Amino acid sequence: MSQHVLVTGGAGFIGSHTVVQLVNAGHQVTILDNLSNSSIIALERIKKLCTGPLDFIEGDIRNPSLLEKLFSDHDITAVIHFAGLKAVGESVEKPLEYYENNVGGTTQLLKAMQHAGVKTFIFSSSATVYGDPETLPITEDSPRSTTNPYGQTKLMCEHILEDLDQTQDGWKIILLRYFNPVGAHISGTIGESPAGTPNNLMPFVSQVASGRRDTLSVFGNDYPTKDGTGVRDYIHVEDLAEGHLAALNYLLEQPDNTLQAINLGTGKGISVLELVNAFEQASGQQIPYQISPRRSGDIATCYADATRAKSLLGWQATKTVEDMCNDTWRWQSQNPNGYDA
Ligand code: NAD
Ligand code: WQD
Repeated sequence: MSQHVLVTGGAGFIGSHTVVQLVNAGHQVTILDNLSNSSIIALERIKKLCTGPLDFIEGDIRNPSLLEKLFSDHDITAVIHFAGLKAVGESVEKPLEYYENNVGGTTQLLKAMQHAGVKTFIFSSSATVYGDPETLPITEDSPRSTTNPYGQTKLMCEHILEDLDQTQDGWKIILLRYFNPVGAHISGTIGESPAGTPNNLMPFVSQVASGRRDTLSVFGNDYPTKDGTGVRDYIHVEDLAEGHLAALNYLLEQPDNTLQAINLGTGKGISVLELVNAFEQASGQQIPYQISPRRSGDIATCYADATRAKSLLGWQATKTVEDMCNDTWRWQSQNPNGYDA
């Protein structure tokens, strides 16, 4: 059944891929994005990949009058909330900006939704809410804890949504906990475009492969893992986008007062050196690296138990690490500077 979905942060990395899939599945989509970490070029590219119309509003989720007007002008039936700040290191330097944007922004959005009677909500959470896991793979019932302000904002939003579910009628909520999103659209026209030096492994590796950076620093090779380097559950952004469509379909069939936390991962752990090797294969380029000290706050290993997503949503990741590297490389080669000219 076609829905009118408000996608906050829909011009960003994960949002852009999800918007394309939503529109092409027949949903009506309105994007709300302040373009603080995305670009109008991304929007033009998204539109080209869409088989139907797409509505874009440039604005901020922290603007209550804009939200009120948006909900009164549009017959929105569900919200997918990607908008937020996401850099762990920056969150340590600027905690107030992170709390204001991620927690304050989410609260403003939920208030506007409550006022408008729109109560179907999909939230971009993160495996970061599991902190340093005691057991692997990580299930949704694993204990939650965080080690930095970014992680705190995600955990606080989860608590806010749990309180809403407990105390208010009519909400249908899914907390999607993403593991490590990578990859790009198969066209090579949309992808991840980090500003400045990338914090995350995949964009750094792809920029070394393309010659934009000289050497990758591998943060530690003395972890208790298969080759001593950190192990993560990398998931293709197109699989992640499909997970949002499956979550939306699931929520539409549920009775009111539903809240589910669901991991979106592949269930497989890949080490830093395995990813580097896979990227060398995909790109045909050598990726020079040096072993550097561990990065503060990093954990050894993190991968999902993805069985709940399969049983509740009928969703599972299908893309391989080769797909992730091939698609990232296509995006990187066609757009050496991301969306910047
Ligand atoms: P992104 O930065 O590419 O996209 C976020 C978008 O939100 C950007 O387009 C930005 O301009 C917009 N935005 C930020 N603050 C806003 C505001 N106040 N009002 C309106 N728009 C605003 O990030 P992404 O990688 O696509 O991540 C999307 C969501 O998923 C984020 O909430 C992030 O915390 C979460 N998440 C990301 C990852 C990851 O590794 N990429 C992992 C787990 C969770
Ligand atoms: C992966 C592995 C690094 C860069 C982060 C956030 C998390 C989530 C996803 C939003 C680790 C190693 C990295 C480099 C390296 N985001 N590495 N050299 O840390 O698992 O998760 O992004 O919710 O909250 O913390 O991802 O890609 O930064 O690191 O050796 O230049 O690559 O040590 O083992 P991480 P990452």
